[in-house]
Amino acid sequence: MNDNQAIIRFENVTKQYDNDLIVLDNVSFEIERGKFYTLLGPSGCGKTTILRLIAGFTEASSGDIYFNGKKINSVPANKRQVNTVFQDYALFPHLNVFENIAFGLRIKKVKNTEVKKRVSEALRFVNLEGYENREIKEMSGGQRQRVAIARAIVNQPEVILLDEPLSALDLKLRTEMQYELRELQRRLGITFIFVTHDQEEALAMSDEIFVLNKGHIQQSGAPTDIYDEPINRFVADFIGESNIIPGSMVEDFVVEFAGERFECVDKGFDPNEKIEIVIRPEDLEITDPEKGKIQVKVDSQLFRGVHYEICGYDKDGNEWLVHSTKKATVDEEIGLYFEPEAIHVMRFGETEEEFDKRLEAYGDETHAN
Ligand SMILES: Nc1ncnc2c1ncn2[C@@H]1O[C@H](COP(=O)(O)OP(=O)(O)OP(=O)(O)O)[C@@H](O)[C@H]1O
Ligand SMILES: [Mg+2]
Repeated sequence: MNDNQAIIRFENVTKQYDNDLIVLDNVSFEIERGKFYTLLGPSGCGKTTILRLIAGFTEASSGDIYFNGKKINSVPANKRQVNTVFQDYALFPHLNVFENIAFGLRIKKVKNTEVKKRVSEALRFVNLEGYENREIKEMSGGQRQRVAIARAIVNQPEVILLDEPLSALDLKLRTEMQYELRELQRRLGITFIFVTHDQEEALAMSDEIFVLNKGHIQQSGAPTDIYDEPINRFVADFIGESNIIPGSMVEDFVVEFAGERFECVDKGFDPNEKIEIVIRPEDLEITDPEKGKIQVKVDSQLFRGVHYEICGYDKDGNEWLVHSTKKATVDEEIGLYFEPEAIHVMRFGETEEEFDKRLEAYGDETHAN
């Protein structure tokens, strides 16, 4: 087996349930071995459907799914090298911790001594040694979550699918478990595909994020790429807080918005093409009005613990959100300063393919000159 080969590959996969709704629309992607992937998107966008297709709980309407280079469209779920951790953990309440974890091995008729060894190992991995005989109802939410993970890793699958496994936990435990899961994935080296609709969780945990909307992958990439370079309004809006302002691209490296022209680092648009720009709230610096690139009248201010969240409007009526350690005063006029790199230009409704094509085309042109 070639190690560089994708462990999972979707090729033009479409999923339509009986009610004719297209849930996944011609989706293609690759999952590399040993990485932590996150499927991120709003409710109903198709995240669970992708996991069910990988696990073999449902079949694609068209397109192909490959596992280690082999087409697995019609391979039954129990023959796939995949284990799922469900949102509600789906633990058996009448079995103790040990037997919950051992369940899959018992079905496979693994020898008792081997079962013992592997369950102990799995318990050690999730820091639950000594809990073998506990009833599930005597376990906390976080401990149950670990039992569910132990139950998945005990089968030594090549891929673990996790469908919103942290959503039932309170914030503090959730943050702890994020850290633990990430560590566990690194130690095990198993490919994790994790589902969440929480952007911060996705940014904190993943090697790669797929941002989904309405059955399409809007953008895929490392967390910093997606955060810093969202390719369209949906991604910019969904990942973190953003200022999204309409404008036009005067020429390469010159953008106009809020009635002014600014230097930027983007290129490859038509002259005067209508675009939208994104500036992250933390990339705006509060200055005296005359020193700012934009002047804003402060409308509201909230203290968020680490920073102030200040909201104001420019003379064109655009809303600006600023994260700053400096305090402002409501109704005060302030300046906002930003670097050219802080402006990110987006084409209307651009898809990932179009974005890549545009960059390529621009690269070719500049090389030709
Ligand atoms: N068995 C089914 N029959 C018909 N429609 C379904 C079925 N399962 C899911 N759907 C529909 O497919 C769409 C995608 O569902 P899916 O469960 O993949 O979304 P999701 O991204 O996991 O959402 P959530 O964040 O709410 O879990 C939804 O519109 C849903 O109603
Ligand atoms: Mg779901």
